[in-house]
Amino acid sequence: MTKRTLAALGLVFLTATGASAQQASDTVAPERATGLAVAKVVTAKTHMVAAAHPLAAAAGEKILADGGSAIDAMIAVQTVLGLVEPQSSGLGGGAFLVYYDAGTKRITTLDGRETAPMEATPKLFLDETGQPLKFFDAVVGGRSVGTPGTVMLMQEAHNRWGRKDWKSLFAPAETLARDGFAVSPRLATLIATEGDKLKAFEATSTYFFGADGAPLKAGTLLKNPAYAETLSTIAAGGAPAFYTGPIADAIVDTVRMSGKNAGVLSLADLANYRVEERRPVCIDYRALEVCGMGPPSSGAVAIGQMLGMLENFDLKALGKDNPESWRLIGDAQRLAFADRERYLADTDFVPIPVKGLLDKTYLGERAKLLDGDKALGNDAVTSGKPEWDHAFNFGRGAAIELPSTSHFVIVDKDGNVVSMTTTIENGFGSRLMTGGFLLNNELTDFSFKTHDDGMPVANRVEPGKRPRSSMSPTIVMKDGKPLLAIGSPGGSQIIGYVAQALIAHIDWGMDVGEIVAMPHLINRFGPYDLEAGTGAEKLAEPLKALGYEVKMGEMNSGLHAIALSADGLKGAADPRREGVAVGK
Ligand code: GLY
Repeated sequence: MTKRTLAALGLVFLTATGASAQQASDTVAPERATGLAVAKVVTAKTHMVAAAHPLAAAAGEKILADGGSAIDAMIAVQTVLGLVEPQSSGLGGGAFLVYYDAGTKRITTLDGRETAPMEATPKLFLDETGQPLKFFDAVVGGRSVGTPGTVMLMQEAHNRWGRKDWKSLFAPAETLARDGFAVSPRLATLIATEGDKLKAFEATSTYFFGADGAPLKAGTLLKNPAYAETLSTIAAGGAPAFYTGPIADAIVDTVRMSGKNAGVLSLADLANYRVEERRPVCIDYRALEVCGMGPPSSGAVAIGQMLGMLENFDLKALGKDNPESWRLIGDAQRLAFADRERYLADTDFVPIPVKGLLDKTYLGERAKLLDGDKALGNDAVTSGKPEWDHAFNFGRGAAIELPSTSHFVIVDKDGNVVSMTTTIENGFGSRLMTGGFLLNNELTDFSFKTHDDGMPVANRVEPGKRPRSSMSPTIVMKDGKPLLAIGSPGGSQIIGYVAQALIAHIDWGMDVGEIVAMPHLINRFGPYDLEAGTGAEKLAEPLKALGYEVKMGEMNSGLHAIALSADGLKGAADPRREGVAVGK
């Protein structure tokens, strides 16, 4: 296909309001309310952590400074996040780990995704008349809770790559849970805006609200002795102490006795939970290799499809301020989402044409759909016909994925790299709490409807199956060495956040501070979502002129990135959240 080299408009749309790219690297993240979007670039020589809360990043950094491995630090970061950012991830949820081992020079991906209980059926989220439930009617309560995977993921990763004593890695979170931590402004705001849903269950309500029923305020010293006890039990007994015994009993009781929306999770589901090693999904893009998490995540396949289509166009020449770049990116993303909706699910249950979906010839054909000069009409955005290893077809599913989740990256002194996205799904998950941690609502990542046009939906609920995810922990490789580790929370917008950051870094030469902060433009289903209060707004009229419906709104990514080079490490945290990068 002919490479496109349309002239850039020459207008500066996408630098932060009032701050040049150079200033961005040197400036501490300002308050979001100013409308600025810049991130401090932190440099380090030996090791680094970038995570969504300063206490989590500090805990991980200390483990690294004390000679721990990236995996050791991961356990400290995850257990502290589960305390100080409990709404996003924790022991009651699941996670995907993309890990680069500097010794073997290999990338391994571990799937710690939740599983549907063995008593669940495809009709889990249908009402008595066979209609899909409303989202929050499905979320709040035990019905949405899948078997948690994060603790087993920590154990499996530590068995393979841990250096420090398992027990010691729980100490930072346990100490904070016993001594207390200051409720952050973001957590306080989220509690206050949650109100009734968080008050539905006594343990949750007691933890997040004062004796007078008022939501906890920012700065309140919050202690969580139940979480400290849970951590102490896991520290002493390993993952088996979570998946069997009193903690497992309490999880099951909480799920099964949660009122009208009670779930069907059992002790057997917990006892039988396994982490799966999956083949990393890697795609070549402009002489680099972009690697991430395959099914049950749709992340790396969708990002790989976008990049595979966009490689046929000269985005570098077009530039980041050119509406034509965003037409191509937006419509490539819509085409990837059309395939995702039909084909992506847990490969242990449904055959998925991963190879066919990422085949460069197939993507070249799909890219030809972008050859026009206007937005694709909705009728033109349908799933394609990738090559199958064997014949099969599916209906289009419908899963609702709202922003949630956390992402962190870690590099240790030996050059091992962790890129991990971790979640309890919706903010505060199922709103059920036991043992000082929240239980996930990950099962609502399944399609609520079971069939489409008479065909089964690939991502329908099935017992033991893992719901499709959008989580996209990514490591970019150059000449066999890691160049960039990145990922984000954000529900199904994760795919767009990460893809945009990759294009910004690779095609537009933007540094880590710029790529985590740049204004977002995302198109999954037709309407173009533009981040309100940022330079993205200036593209609204040009995109409308190309035929898009444009929607302005908050786009709360939480990108964390570390760039690796012979000179050292550069890390940055998304200024939209409370994270930091720290290193030495
Ligand atoms: N629950 C968020 C995701 O897995 O994409």
